[in-house]
Amino acid sequence: MLAASDIAHFTAAGPSEAECTEQLARLSGVLRESFDAAFTLWHADSGELAHASVQQPGCNDPLRGQLARALHGDAPEFLADEDCVLVLGIPFALRHGESVVATAAFVTRQLRTGERPGTAAGLLTADDQSAIEWIERQTLWTPDMLIRLAKAVQARVAAESRSQQLEHEVEKVSDNLASTYEEICLLHSLTQNLRLRSDDESLCRLVLGCVLDCVPAHAAAIQLLPVAKEGQITYKARTHSLLFGAGECPINNAEFSRLIEALELVPSGGPRVANRRFTAADGWPFPDVRQLVIVPMSEGDRVFGWLAIFNHTDDREFGTVEASLLNSIGSMLGIHSSNRDLYRMQSEFLASVVRAFTSAIDAKDPYTCGHSDRVARVAVRLAKELDCDAELLHTLYMAGLLHDVGKIGIDDAVLRKPDKLTKAEFEHIKEHPELGYRILADIAQLNAVLPAVLHHHEQWDGRGYPMKLIADQIPLIARIVAVADAFDAMSSDRPYRKGMSIEKVNEIFQKGAAQQWDPEVIGAYFSAYDDIVEIARHERANLTLDVEQWI
Ligand SMILES: [Fe+2]
Repeated sequence: MLAASDIAHFTAAGPSEAECTEQLARLSGVLRESFDAAFTLWHADSGELAHASVQQPGCNDPLRGQLARALHGDAPEFLADEDCVLVLGIPFALRHGESVVATAAFVTRQLRTGERPGTAAGLLTADDQSAIEWIERQTLWTPDMLIRLAKAVQARVAAESRSQQLEHEVEKVSDNLASTYEEICLLHSLTQNLRLRSDDESLCRLVLGCVLDCVPAHAAAIQLLPVAKEGQITYKARTHSLLFGAGECPINNAEFSRLIEALELVPSGGPRVANRRFTAADGWPFPDVRQLVIVPMSEGDRVFGWLAIFNHTDDREFGTVEASLLNSIGSMLGIHSSNRDLYRMQSEFLASVVRAFTSAIDAKDPYTCGHSDRVARVAVRLAKELDCDAELLHTLYMAGLLHDVGKIGIDDAVLRKPDKLTKAEFEHIKEHPELGYRILADIAQLNAVLPAVLHHHEQWDGRGYPMKLIADQIPLIARIVAVADAFDAMSSDRPYRKGMSIEKVNEIFQKGAAQQWDPEVIGAYFSAYDDIVEIARHERANLTLDVEQWI
C-alpha cells in the first residue's frame, strides 16, 4: 500500500547549482574590479573552496580556507599578518542564505634591499625568490584602506543582492498575479457556461477543455461518481461511475478508481500532488502516470467526483499553481454537482407527481388508457413543426399528459357511459377543464401547463368552452393540445366504437381549420403527418419525462 504521506504535496524550489555558481562569479568580479586583485571564495561554514583564484601564490591553499572559516562576525578582518603581507577576509551573505568569505593577500610595504620575506613567504606558500618577485609587483595598501574598501564592497554587494532579491520577488508576485488572473478568467468562463440542465458529458467536456487550455498537462480527466443506486427509479440519475478524459489520458475508469483508493483520497482532503519522486518509486501501479494533481469535486462530506491532470508537458513537476487552480475548479464543480443533483431530485419529484396524475386519469377513464401519453407526444411533434423552443416543448409534453386531469372530478357513471350523453351530463363533462385548473393551480412547477388544461376545449371560432375565447385569444399551447387531443380521440379505437379512418380524420381537420382549430396548427399536422401517424401506432408501456424519449 502506498503511504499518502510520501507524496510530495508542493515543492519549494531552491536555487539551482548554476545560479549559485553565477552568483559566486559575480561576487568575484566585483572584488577584482574594486581591489584590482583576485579573491578566493570559501564556504564560511566548512572552510571549503567555493570559487578559486588563479592569481596569487598560496591563494587556494586549504589552510587559507581554515583561516576564513575562523572569521566570526560580519565585518572584514585580517586573517593573517606576516610583516609586509596581510591576508584580508571579507564575509558575504549570499542571496540563498549561504555565507562565503573572500580572501586575498595584500602588500603593505616594499622589502628593503637585501631583506628576505621570511614568514611572509610561508604565508604565500612560495620560496623566498618567488615571494620577493610577487611582492615587488604589488600595489601598496595601508590596512585602514583595505578595511574601508572591504566595507564599501560589502555594502555594494549587499545592496545589489537586495535589489536582485526584490527583482526576484517582483517576478514571483508577477507570476502569481498572472496565474491568479488566469485562474479567475477560467473560473469566470466556467461560471458563465455551467448549466444545471447540461448533461454529464457536455459539462465534463467544457471543464476539461478549459483546464487543458490553462495547465501544462498532457491530459485531464473527470470521474463522476454515481448519485443513485442501480435499479432505483430516477430521472436521468447516474447509477455508475463515468470517466471523461481529454488529451492523452493514461488511465481508464477502473484504474482511476484504483488510483483514488491507492492515494487514500477523502472528499475533504484538498488537492493531492504526486511527482516523479513518488511515481518513480517501486510499487507505483500506474507506469504511464508520471505526474498528477487530483482534487475532489465535493460539497461538504459528499463527493460527486474527482478532477485530475496527468503528466506535465515538459516532464517537470506540478506544484502549487496547478494544485490551487484545480482545487478552485473542484470546489466549484462540487457545488455545481450538488445543485444539479438537487435539480435532478426536484425534476424527479415533479415527474412522480405527473405520473401519479396520469395514472389517476387512466384509472378513472380506462377506455382512454394511453390517450394522455399519445396526446403529449403528438403535441410535441406539432410544436416542433411550428419551431417552438425547447422550453415550450417540455411544457407541451406535460400539458399533453395533464390536459384531462380534471376528469378525476367527473362522475364515473358519466365518464364511462357508452351511450349518448344527456345535455346535463355533457354540461357536467364540460366542467373538467376548470376542475383540472383548480387541481393543478397550487403546484408552482406546473403553472406553465395551466393554460392548456383550462383552454384545450376552446375553439378558433369562439364556440368552445369554458371561456369561449376566439382565435389568438386562446393560448398557443392550448391550440396545439386541442389538435393533438382531437387527433387521438378520433383515430383511436374505443371499446364502444372503432376509431375513424385516417382519411376521415384528415377530412375533418381540413374542414375544421380556422373554425374549430387554429389553421396554422392544422398546417403543422399535415406537414408532420407521417410522424404523427407513427406516434399513434405505438403504445408505450411506461411514461417517461426524458426529453430524448418523447417521440
Ligand atoms: Fe379534455
